[in-house]
Amino acid sequence: MRNILLLAFISLLAFTGCKQTTPVKTIENLKAGIKGETTASAKYNAFAQKAREEGNDTIAKLFDAASKSESIHAANHTKVLEELGEKMDVFTPEFEVKTTAENLQAAIDGESYEVATMYPQFIADAQAEKVEKAVKSFTWAMDTEKKHLQFYTKALEALKLASEKTLSFEYAVCPVCGNTYEKASMDENCAFCQTPKDKYIII
Ligand SMILES: [Fe+2]
Ligand SMILES: [Fe+2]
Repeated sequence: MRNILLLAFISLLAFTGCKQTTPVKTIENLKAGIKGETTASAKYNAFAQKAREEGNDTIAKLFDAASKSESIHAANHTKVLEELGEKMDVFTPEFEVKTTAENLQAAIDGESYEVATMYPQFIADAQAEKVEKAVKSFTWAMDTEKKHLQFYTKALEALKLASEKTLSFEYAVCPVCGNTYEKASMDENCAFCQTPKDKYIII
């Protein structure tokens, strides 16, 4: 009797082991996230060049820092996707470059969508499908985008008041999670992933 019970238990374990379902939504969301972050990185790089052409060096620095940060988010999402045995599809980033004031507004709109709509849904889906690494990667990105949104809003206000010279000249980007700081107010250890500040990328 004991042997039969043991056999039944082992069979049940094997059965549940094989029954792992594919996290379909999370895979789709990771791909959308990689596309969004890669596009944002390329877009902010182009916006930085435009800001420099217009003589807005502080705003150019902000776009440079955010561009670096988005590339870290894209790399983190890609790692999770590949760990799930999937590959990213080939795509070309598409965006428009306008004036720096318009580019800042476009950046605010993009970050607002990611913070209010996109990442909360992605995180909920990853939690439901129990993909903890995706929950972490999406959360690091969302928390960073909240800061980018604040920085861009502050920069647009400064630009409208012609006081952009008062904005930070240097930023620090966490190489692990993409968290972004004005250099003067960076934490000893990254608030999101605890990486020490001597590892930050200074821009
Ligand atoms: Fe961002
Ligand atoms: Fe970090």
